Amino acid sequence: MFITFEGIEGCGKTTQVKRLVKRLNSEGISLVTTLEPGGTRIGKSIRHILLDASNRDLSPLAELILYIADRAQHVEEVIKPALDQGKWVICDRFFDATLAYQGTARGQDMELIRILNNKATHGIRPDITFLLDCPVEMGLDRALKRNRDLSQEDQDRFERERLEFHREVRKGYLELARKEDKRFVVINAALTEDDVEQEIFQSLSPILDEKREEGVY
Ligand SMILES: Nc1ncnc2c1ncn2[C@@H]1O[C@H](COP(=O)(O)OP(=O)(O)O)[C@@H](O)[C@H]1O
Ligand SMILES: [Mg+2]
Repeated sequence: MFITFEGIEGCGKTTQVKRLVKRLNSEGISLVTTLEPGGTRIGKSIRHILLDASNRDLSPLAELILYIADRAQHVEEVIKPALDQGKWVICDRFFDATLAYQGTARGQDMELIRILNNKATHGIRPDITFLLDCPVEMGLDRALKRNRDLSQEDQDRFERERLEFHREVRKGYLELARKEDKRFVVINAALTEDDVEQEIFQSLSPILDEKREEGVY
């Protein structure tokens, strides 16, 4: 089972990944939790280039290819081996992020992104993608507050983008969700953390019931 979390900055992905992992662990499910960019040692170097706010001059094509490089390494080193062993994988951002950020918001060729994604993932696709959707002002406020709480004074390269950029990202995600409504579960991320957690867990409960019956885990 491969589950991904998507959404704009500050919508609550990392918070909800942690909460879901706790719940699944208590169900005795063997799982791997990971993230993009930066799910591998090499990926961490790539992440640093991508998020470094001083890299204002990173070209859109270079940015796209760095995300794809991170993903290729990540799928080969972490995701594919885990799925091959029958583990559950929970990933904080995956290929939809490249379509929403580099495609819709940055205007890179969608067809090229699809081809590169397909190559980097060996055709692996998430079984379920939770899109945590909230207004961009809310997400960015939360991200700012988080950075303050963690004493991170600086915003990263993406948090510094103008509001219009984040609106485009949100729109891109919602379009993807509309087109693939079987894979995507759109969650109202403006709700409280507890309510969002509940909605996510509830939408997984049919799968958990099925697995319990099969005695798969
Ligand atoms: N539903 C929520 N309501 C209010 N604050 C939230 C909610 N979800 C997350 N937060 C807070 O907002 C900030 C950003 O959340 P985070 O999970 O880091 O977002 P993301 O990983 O999507 O960027 C954190 O400080 C977190 O505690
Ligand atoms: Mg996060």
